[in-house]
Amino acid sequence: MSESGITPIKNVSQQELGGMTPKQFVDLLRDNCSKPGRGMANHPFVTGLEAGTVTLPQLRLFTEQFYLHIRNMLPWIGEIYVKCPHEDVRTVLVKQLAEECLGTITNTKAHPELLLEFGGAIGMDIEATRKKEQLPQSRKVTEYFEFMSGCRPWFVPLSAIGIGLESFVPDTFTRVVAALKKNYGIKDDKLVFYTMHILADQDHGDEGIEMVSKYAVTPEARKQVYDCTVVTSELYFDLWNLYTTVGKA
Ligand SMILES: [Fe+2]
Repeated sequence: MSESGITPIKNVSQQELGGMTPKQFVDLLRDNCSKPGRGMANHPFVTGLEAGTVTLPQLRLFTEQFYLHIRNMLPWIGEIYVKCPHEDVRTVLVKQLAEECLGTITNTKAHPELLLEFGGAIGMDIEATRKKEQLPQSRKVTEYFEFMSGCRPWFVPLSAIGIGLESFVPDTFTRVVAALKKNYGIKDDKLVFYTMHILADQDHGDEGIEMVSKYAVTPEARKQVYDCTVVTSELYFDLWNLYTTVGKA
């Protein structure tokens, strides 16, 4: 590990990335995004919930800043829709946006609203939370999606979401749900944000491979996906790590 605690990114050339099969490429990327200091896989916040050492003020700050990020990044999904030249992919994006903004497919609610309902169960003031501002570690992730959506090909931010984040959700959120029930006494009806994502994100590992095999085919495209997905996972780690900035037990 480096001095900053992050395992240095495996240095693979653009040509090597271009020569890999889609599965080899996605496996390498997932491996890089699972290292300490990246993404949500085995994040200290998760192990802390499992140990019961994350305090309520910490859980509330995490929920507030995670909520603000997932709410504020939705317009950038819309930007990917505008940029994507493939009708079939755009159709999928519209469905995903409808689900994120309305809960249309799972017959639930807007995903940010579901997270706020969880916030209510841990004593947060829901209306006050809507008006909060993002702290730098949260804002940076949101703004990185703005950057990727505006300055990189449309499949780059989608790969960052699908490969770097969502493919880790089923395992991570399963652990989070178990820990929140066992150590914090949260009831099922307040955990819908987490439980619905466990099901919704189950297939995203395979979808990532499919997207890379169809669209990220040139060495240059592979390199853009590789670099941006790793950076996204590092910024995401920092967002989840915000809980350490407030009161410990
Ligand atoms: Fe969601």
